[in-house]
Amino acid sequence: MQRISVTEAVWKRILAVKSGTSCLCCGDWSSNERDALRLYGALASATEVPQFFAQIGQSLDGRVATVSGDAQDISGADGLAHLHRLRALADAVVIGVKTALHDSPQLTVRLAEGENPARIVIDPNGRLPNDAGLLLDTSARRIVIQACDAPRADDVEVIRLKRDGWISAHDIAQALRGLGFQKVLVEGGGVTIAQFLEAGLLHRLHVAIAPLLIGSGPQGLSTTPIPSLAEAMRPETHTYDLGSDVLFDCVLAANRPTAIPCAH
Ligand SMILES: NC(=O)c1ccc[n+]([C@@H]2O[C@H](COP(=O)([O-])OP(=O)(O)OC[C@H]3O[C@@H](n4cnc5c(N)ncnc54)[C@H](OP(=O)(O)O)[C@@H]3O)[C@@H](O)[C@H]2O)c1
Repeated sequence: MQRISVTEAVWKRILAVKSGTSCLCCGDWSSNERDALRLYGALASATEVPQFFAQIGQSLDGRVATVSGDAQDISGADGLAHLHRLRALADAVVIGVKTALHDSPQLTVRLAEGENPARIVIDPNGRLPNDAGLLLDTSARRIVIQACDAPRADDVEVIRLKRDGWISAHDIAQALRGLGFQKVLVEGGGVTIAQFLEAGLLHRLHVAIAPLLIGSGPQGLSTTPIPSLAEAMRPETHTYDLGSDVLFDCVLAANRPTAIPCAH
């Protein structure tokens, strides 16, 4: 496991790869910079199919918040910077309504250079109040996915989908593709990420582990229980030392990158 080094030059290259104006193969990089290019390049490269990736920040004992719902400082400074880089690489970021209500996240890019992605909240019962900060801040598109007719402001888009217990993650993915999103970050919580994971829609899952123990509180991913370890999902995994946190980069589906112009 190597510590990644996200220098200004590395991040500029990653943003250029995202915009399709540069390649990943050229350049004189240190070994730690090359690891950073590998980690973020896998998400930045243009691909043949829209890409969904997820990130969860958790403690050593697998918790994502305290019992009272405090999730603010689970990830260390470098884990937070990593999350903001993922937002910068995404066209849209998706959260479940419980995260919106508990954490009031802004879902903006503040700890990295890059544009704010569209904000999408899955809120089947229309529980998110219209004065939630992430709906009022007009610096990005705002979309609520609902299974009911809760009224929203004119500048907030509503996707109305049917539910059968859950709203199908495939239906959500199809609706987001229809809106033109190519890269979608599923940012939590664990229930929402699990829906996309179990539907086989995630290309990458990032689990960032911070060295603290919380004792109780919501667990990371709440996937369907399995009877034996033989049935456990065992994705190919690369580990990265972010600094304050350790990142498990799980490869769930291979990228098929489209041709990128090479600088040489
Ligand atoms: N450490 C981290 O990285 C991190 C990140 C995010 C959140 N969190 C923490 O995680 C906790 C919340 O996470 P959570 O897993 O309990 O909830 P969540 O994923 O934030 O939200 C789940 C809710 O969203 C709606 N939802 C999501 N997907 C749906 C689907 N496919 N179909 C229908 N409804 C869907 C449902 O709303 P209804 O309940 O209305 O049916 C569901 O109960 C909070 O404590 C938050 O602080 C931590």
